[in-house]
Amino acid sequence: MSPPSRNRRRCTCRSASLDEQFDRLLPDELRHLSATHWTPVRAAVRAASLLTGSKRTRILDIGSGVGKVCAIGALSGQGTWVGVEQHPALVEPAAELARALGVADRTRFVQADAFSLDWTEFDALYLYNPFELPLFRDVPPGASLAEQTAQVQRRLAAMPSCARVVTLHGFGGTMPASYELLYHEVIPGVGLDLAMWIQRGHAVTWSAAS
Ligand SMILES: C[S@@+](CC[C@H](N)C(=O)[O-])C[C@H]1O[C@@H](n2cnc3c(N)ncnc32)[C@H](O)[C@@H]1O
Repeated sequence: MSPPSRNRRRCTCRSASLDEQFDRLLPDELRHLSATHWTPVRAAVRAASLLTGSKRTRILDIGSGVGKVCAIGALSGQGTWVGVEQHPALVEPAAELARALGVADRTRFVQADAFSLDWTEFDALYLYNPFELPLFRDVPPGASLAEQTAQVQRRLAAMPSCARVVTLHGFGGTMPASYELLYHEVIPGVGLDLAMWIQRGHAVTWSAAS
């Protein structure tokens, strides 16, 4: 399946009210990022239902931003949610959001480059197009989009059999051939593609250098 078109992030006709209510929980200085960068509530609830198989499921949100998906996932579904986020300014607000919503015991936020974690320690992964748009202008660009998406593809290929992956608006690359697409929808009122994939193949070898 080809990646979604890169020429838009979000339809402007998004269902606003739920997200506007949710945004009130965020610090003022991070609210302006919501419409473009954080998963809409409706999509987060759907993603959580697709990612969490049982209360033992460990889910990694790759580029967790302000923690919206992890918090909504923990509220609406089972499992333990870990968010990895490169920007320090987003990590404490994410933990604070989880505390405010009473899900701090099933969420954890790590300030790190997503590629410094071993993704194979998780049963399920969530990606909302993490590498396409920079959040803050004053942060120097890291690896190129092409390099990061190639790295994601290698990491996905190395996931164990039955690993679940949910993407919202893709991740910039194509899923490895070992994955089967199990579910797809365009989130109503939001206009973003949500896809759920499952690893059917044998994991290829991954090393920390990948
Ligand atoms: C589109 S936002 C999605 C946030 C969150 N997952 C959500 O859906 O609400 C992408 C996030 O990925 C983060 N990000 C981008 N590259 C990253 C990397 N290499 N390691 C960790 N976080 C990264 C960005 O800082 C941003 O917060």
